[in-house]
Amino acid sequence: MKYIFISLLFITCISVTYVYGGDDCFRKIGKAKAALLEAIDTLQRTNRLLGETGSAIPSNKVAFHARLTPYVTLGSAQTVIFDHVITNIGKAYNQHTGHFTAPFNGIYVFACTFLQTRGTGVHLQMVNNSSEISKGYGTSGSGEAGVMTAVIYLQKGDVVKVRHYPGKGSQTIHGHWSFFTGYLL
Ligand SMILES: *[C@@H]1O[C@H](CO)[C@@H](O)[C@H](O)[C@H]1NC(C)=O
Ligand SMILES: *[C@@H]1O[C@H](CO)[C@@H](O)[C@H](O)[C@H]1NC(C)=O
Repeated sequence: MKYIFISLLFITCISVTYVYGGDDCFRKIGKAKAALLEAIDTLQRTNRLLGETGSAIPSNKVAFHARLTPYVTLGSAQTVIFDHVITNIGKAYNQHTGHFTAPFNGIYVFACTFLQTRGTGVHLQMVNNSSEISKGYGTSGSGEAGVMTAVIYLQKGDVVKVRHYPGKGSQTIHGHWSFFTGYLL
């Protein structure tokens, strides 16, 4: 690339010399060439830096996706801890507690897909602190799945989690086939 620029500069000089008979053009080439090489070098370094930061995820992004791996027999209002993190941009989801804690005020989208084990079915509830924002039921047929979704404005520090529906006795949720997802809109 830099050779094309330098060649162009030479061609311009030759043209200027031919047309106007000026010869200090060639004296200026040395200076111009040095300035040009420096500018190209700066551009290349800037480009590398932009490339590095351009591929990083901006710090205001929040998105998580996690899978439940064990089968869990849930007691009343027990939190479902989706233990296997697939995505956790912004680290707002905690795979040890099952809590998503909003890092900023904003509109968030949540979803949960889950499978019951044969027999009892499974009732779940999605809550913001303790207020219900969604609920779902995987019926007791064979391999019936349940779904919950919510769109909600959260204040920084509000906690969203999935828990067993209060008062439903003990029910088992299927490992590997249950996921919890959320992101800042
Ligand atoms: C979420 O929970 C917090 C804390 O309980 C509450 O102040 C806020 O109003 C709730 N937001 C919604 C939209 O339910
Ligand atoms: C919401 O729940 C979290 C975690 O349980 C708690 O730290 C926070 O104080 C609660 N916020 C409100 C407004 O109740």
